[in-house]
Amino acid sequence: IHLYICPCFGENYILDDKVGLGRKFDGIGGLSGGGATSRLLVNYAEPYRSQILDYLFKPNFGASLQILKVEIGGDAQTTDGTEPSHMHYENDENYFRGYEWWLMKEAKKRNPNITLIGLPWAFPGWVGHGKNWPYDFPDITVSYVVSWIIGAKQYHDLDIDYVGIWNERNFDSKYIKLLRYTLDKSGLENVKIIASDNMWEPITFYVLLDQELRDAVDVIGAHYPGTTAVEEALKTNKTLWSSEDYSTFNDDVGGGCWARILNQNYVNGKMTATISWNLVASYYQDLPFGRDGLMTAQEPWSGNYVVESPIWITAHTTQFTEPGWTYLQTVGHLKHGGSYVALTDQKGNLTIVIETMTHNHSICIRPPLPAFTVAAQNATFSLKGSFGSVTQLQVWHSKFNFKTKKPSFFQKLDPIKISNGSFTLSLDVDEVYTLTTLTTGQKGSYPEPPASAPFPKKYKDDFNVKNPSFTEAPNFADQTGVFEYYINLTDLGPHVFTLRQVVTQRPVTWVADADQTISVIGDYKWQNLTVMCDVLMETERTGGVFIAARVDKGGGLVRNAKGIFFWVFADGSYKVTGDLSGQTVLAKGSSGTKAHVWYTLSLSIQGDHASGELNGFPLWKLSVDLVPKNGWTAIGTRSFELAQFDNFSVQAE
Ligand code: GAL
Ligand code: CA
Repeated sequence: IHLYICPCFGENYILDDKVGLGRKFDGIGGLSGGGATSRLLVNYAEPYRSQILDYLFKPNFGASLQILKVEIGGDAQTTDGTEPSHMHYENDENYFRGYEWWLMKEAKKRNPNITLIGLPWAFPGWVGHGKNWPYDFPDITVSYVVSWIIGAKQYHDLDIDYVGIWNERNFDSKYIKLLRYTLDKSGLENVKIIASDNMWEPITFYVLLDQELRDAVDVIGAHYPGTTAVEEALKTNKTLWSSEDYSTFNDDVGGGCWARILNQNYVNGKMTATISWNLVASYYQDLPFGRDGLMTAQEPWSGNYVVESPIWITAHTTQFTEPGWTYLQTVGHLKHGGSYVALTDQKGNLTIVIETMTHNHSICIRPPLPAFTVAAQNATFSLKGSFGSVTQLQVWHSKFNFKTKKPSFFQKLDPIKISNGSFTLSLDVDEVYTLTTLTTGQKGSYPEPPASAPFPKKYKDDFNVKNPSFTEAPNFADQTGVFEYYINLTDLGPHVFTLRQVVTQRPVTWVADADQTISVIGDYKWQNLTVMCDVLMETERTGGVFIAARVDKGGGLVRNAKGIFFWVFADGSYKVTGDLSGQTVLAKGSSGTKAHVWYTLSLSIQGDHASGELNGFPLWKLSVDLVPKNGWTAIGTRSFELAQFDNFSVQAE
């Protein structure tokens, strides 16, 4: 009797380029903005700032990102803050605001081939001519967006590769066609258009219906597609991208989410690029979607940053591919759960990425994840076609080890020898493997950064910077309006260098910005403190400014921010309110304040006692049940109006 031992515990997968290739791979990327997600990154001291950038962009080091997408700032709140526009006003143009230009240049420095994308979330008010809508005057909106692309080249030598329409809001076919026409007319034929950074529909429907629109749109970009594309999207024959994805807390389940979607966005949905919102979590963690970045760098004051698992998961693909490589047709699901993709440069190189993430260890923020099971399994891969002669593959391995909580990421294992054109892997659950002909991978590292520390309890800024490298003062996180360094040429006194709120009209918003402007700073846990600031109103009669503490909300919730707000107005009055909108009045009276005069405001809070001083003299005192009990400090204005701030200081307990 002959015992026949069947290999049925495992499955055979064929990787063959002779049966025809799949789609062209466009890369894996990160998104800075949408909004203000890199706000705190710029204020890191060296060498930490460069180290963080290396982990993100340096080839063969960390995430080695192939795409950088940035927000085209529109002066409005776009999730974790506002980003400044290059045109605050109709007759204004300045291509040195904010930090996205800087970030794009830092990315290019490290990887000259990185793909750059710009997308607006919001627009300055004048673009909408006073309406909360950017398409009534499509020529204005087009010229506003094209100016940004031209400015990128003219002032920063940055070639923008793709431009989008209006993030997760309506598109307008006429606008898209005019954008294409204007780009071409401006010598920007190489700039491709992504539409519409929303769901697959309705853009797909319109693209199928309208030949001219079909010609104008290069990429259909969907957000949080849950790894699938609708049938019609495939029918367009357009390049399909997950142009925004992830947005998941960056612990190891976040890393698992990222591992699963990077493979399965292609396997299930034929998407050839995936872009993470966000690139790096560099905003106060208590703002919405804290730590939803590929890594964390939210403490410029300490220098602490954390290279989280999504960085190494990204490396599994990016360090062994380049945009322009091609997926094989032979990609798919593993018999007992998980997936594999294979890519080639069509010059003999082959990279295979395998993931076996289980359901509960790979949940993303959205959409809901349908049930599936993954089990340990053997997988045999047979190399055919041009890969038939490959004799060995390099092996890179990650294992999440949720049970022992001792994950190991992106380890180089011994190369696999290939005999008879095939090799077998014994796969456990929650693993990622890269098998590749490339020998260039590297797990980059730097010495441990400084330990994490809270925001300093004693903090001050006089804004006296002659040539600031950035337009925004460190650590201020604008939540409505834009606060910029300003030089007061007429003031020969102590207030030549100040911080000025510059947005004078409600923008075409992306979420519900407040009716007041506000910039927050400090530690969300702060309770008892004194905050002081010199203030200057620039609007007669109706002007108003505030300093505040215990501010409890930012982002899209900023309209509902509570706290203790101390206001002075240009009509000679003051107020103390329990909210930004000014509905809960705790105290009010006359202050004699007017526009164009500097005043020093001081706000002190101890438990349920609060008091305010004007120019060093007590103005009001309160003892009530103060809510909230903790929050950031803040400065701001009564409306979209010019106003200046100087000598900001906090002493917290
Ligand atoms: C997206 C949006 C991003 C950010 C993210 C948070 O829909 O485009 O700007 O808000 O959600 O999950
Ligand atoms: Ca000053």
